[in-house]
Amino acid sequence: MIKLHDLHFKPFISEDEIQATVQHMVTAIADDLQDEVPVFVGILNGSFMFVSDFVKKYPKPCEVTFIKLASYEGLKSTDDIQRLVGLTQDLTGRTVVILEDIIDSGKTLAEVHRIFKNENVKELKIATLFYKPEAYKKDFKLHYVGMEIPNKFIVGYGLDYDGLGRDLPAIYQLKTTQHMTNFVLFGPPGAGKGTQAEFLKEKYSLVHISTGDVFRFNIKNETALGMLAKSYMDKGELVPDQVTIDMLNAEVEKNADAKGFIFDGFPRTNAQAEALDKLMDQKDSQINAMIALEVDDEVLVQRLLERGKTSGRADDADENIIRNRIKEYYKKTAILKDYYSAQDKYYGVDGVGSIEDITERLSAVIDSL
Ligand code: IMP
Ligand code: MG
Repeated sequence: MIKLHDLHFKPFISEDEIQATVQHMVTAIADDLQDEVPVFVGILNGSFMFVSDFVKKYPKPCEVTFIKLASYEGLKSTDDIQRLVGLTQDLTGRTVVILEDIIDSGKTLAEVHRIFKNENVKELKIATLFYKPEAYKKDFKLHYVGMEIPNKFIVGYGLDYDGLGRDLPAIYQLKTTQHMTNFVLFGPPGAGKGTQAEFLKEKYSLVHISTGDVFRFNIKNETALGMLAKSYMDKGELVPDQVTIDMLNAEVEKNADAKGFIFDGFPRTNAQAEALDKLMDQKDSQINAMIALEVDDEVLVQRLLERGKTSGRADDADENIIRNRIKEYYKKTAILKDYYSAQDKYYGVDGVGSIEDITERLSAVIDSL
């Protein structure tokens, strides 16, 4: 992954793929032009790398020249195309092949056609390495297209984002969600997970997604997913993972510009962990860590019994019930500890001490992600 100015980009098209595509275009054009000596016209700035690789591969004599146009500002094509350097040679009667790095809206191409209208060339052909069909708004024929790509902003191989990225030998695509810190938070009953989640969400501007709360919200508000979940619960069946994932997805979507998410109460199984990975991947993001508060069983039992004296929660009053809840917790999380350890993402944090001390320890992990 790379960062240019304020934005993150992910690898999209490798050097090898680019070179293979350029070779395809060279072969197609050389086959069509036979013994004609073409003038290749690169559109600066973006096309300089493409033109360079293209003419190096071109098997027959050719001429190369450039014109310089500018239409892009930041991430958007603008209406105002500036002709910075025009044609400097007579192209009367010549076969001209325009070499463009990318065709997006087609505005630059319209300008190219305007420039060549009075040049009396024998033939004008358009060749573009990349083409965004969803963005194209013109009717000009594109004679040679290296690769069709989705309508997402790319950089590298001559293409820039506000001046940066032209030098990259491969193509990178803008990440639709920007850098996030996402982790799943675990802790046995009595470890203070809820308290810590509150602090961390404030400190790091994260969104805390507690699966229990999400369920209650959806059921209370009778959302489609809530009703679906309830229909399983009413039959005493487990809610299918996909329903839960769809609810979490809705939460993630609702908070599209969050700095990250704290997942709490999910995942509980390998299948759920995989589903969560897939969900984050769709968001161009990932789970960075499983953070588990570690507290000795005896300390937990004492804490919960203490809490039971005042909270009135029946399950906090009985030592056997408490010990069973703790045992259950370890049985369930062991699987996930293995899952995230295998990806080098498991972090155990000592959960004994003052609330502030524990927040400090958790922060140290988050800062290191
Ligand atoms: P058009 O005029 O909208 O077709 O855009 C063509 C020009 O915009 C290209 O020559 C590039 O300079 C620039 N451009 C279009 N799409 C991208 C992109 O995804 N990344 C970087 N520059 C782009
Ligand atoms: Mg260009």
